[in-house]
Amino acid sequence: MRRNIVWEGADQLHYEIREIVGVAHSLEKMGLEIIYENIGDPVQKGEEVPEWIRGIITNLVSQSQSYAYTATEGALETRKYLANSVNSREGCKISEDDIIFFNGLGDAVATVFAFLKREARVIGPSPAYSTLSSAEAAHSGYSHMTYTLDPENNWMPDLEDLENKVKYNDAIAGILLINPDNPTGAVYPLEVLEKMVDIARRYDLFVICDETYSHIVYNGAEGIHLSRVIGDVPGIAMRSISKEYPWPGGRCGWIEVFNREKDENFNEFIKTLVNAKRLEVCSTTLPQLSIPITYSDPRYWEHMEARNKRFGERAKEAVEILSKVEGIRVNLPYGAFYLTVLIDEERIKSFKKLPMPGEINDFLSEPIKNSAPDKKLVYNLLGATGICSVPLSGFCSELSGFRVTLLENDDEKRVKIWNTLADSLTKMLG
Ligand SMILES: Cc1ncc(COP(=O)(O)O)c(C=O)c1O
Repeated sequence: MRRNIVWEGADQLHYEIREIVGVAHSLEKMGLEIIYENIGDPVQKGEEVPEWIRGIITNLVSQSQSYAYTATEGALETRKYLANSVNSREGCKISEDDIIFFNGLGDAVATVFAFLKREARVIGPSPAYSTLSSAEAAHSGYSHMTYTLDPENNWMPDLEDLENKVKYNDAIAGILLINPDNPTGAVYPLEVLEKMVDIARRYDLFVICDETYSHIVYNGAEGIHLSRVIGDVPGIAMRSISKEYPWPGGRCGWIEVFNREKDENFNEFIKTLVNAKRLEVCSTTLPQLSIPITYSDPRYWEHMEARNKRFGERAKEAVEILSKVEGIRVNLPYGAFYLTVLIDEERIKSFKKLPMPGEINDFLSEPIKNSAPDKKLVYNLLGATGICSVPLSGFCSELSGFRVTLLENDDEKRVKIWNTLADSLTKMLG
């Protein structure tokens, strides 16, 4: 091309969670049976959306309103309903004008970072959920800036590390957190959230809290919304129905904006997001219309409670089986539906490769060329056992390990997966 048409942030766009799927598909064609443990889609892993929720959606299909555009920010009645539910909780109060709908949180993340001033950076956790870290990195043209989640402290944020980075880098304009966290399954207690907001307050920053999993908490943890702790600090909570109904294919998420009137610059930024959405007209109507009907049904919370109990039991089951392996660390997840297996740095450098059929071995040599040790281990695990997980290095992390999900619905198959992982890791790291 006579002009370079590739944008500066292009090489920051990576999504290991799906990139490994392309490799797995090729191995499937070679006859290997793949167990997809990489993607957080409960429906793909066999969870049925309850009949009564399907009934609500089916009903909406026959209503004319479902075929129309909504207001740019989203369906008014739904925004009123959601604002009321924020206001019924202790903490910051909002109105329907503080809620903006997107086509899934993926779209919200892309829009927020696309319209953030390039020099304004948002520091996020490491390990990081790649949609967020890649979007932030791509918007700035540099690597994502991170603070440490400490595996020795149940994956809690290292607040000293966070404050030091904020203090010495005045490009940082915002703090990002994911609560409950993907990929670690950590759920932050009140005092941790309060301290993070306090850092934002003292350094005049805004806070973005990804609350995709805020209602998926178990093993005694409490999901605390940002609205409860944000006080007078400008903030954005990101919510979605993808993992709750669950309806990831519905592509429906929204942001709740706190304290926009308290900071003129923040308010301008939020107006930009609405204007950007206006160019697209609006987000998809039907899933939005289903929210007040579904959320106000008493069966909804029974449904969430039953799911949470299930995920809590699966988390304990996985930790019990895997913690017998030497050279790894597994912290019990308290929320979301992921489990991170951390691998000892010395052992992974010289891990023993599991035998793979020749054709598969040859095929995998290309994708792992010059890769981090955990990617090499994960691809070997895939080629030898068919288990498709995601290397931790794909989550903007210098630690080694991988992420699996707690989503397998078939009890027998799930226990077999944990046992295969435990046996394989024992052989690899022993
Ligand atoms: C932490 C987190 N944020 C956002 C998303 C994207 O969700 P959505 O389906 O609403 O785009 C995901 C999906 O896995 C996620 O794990």
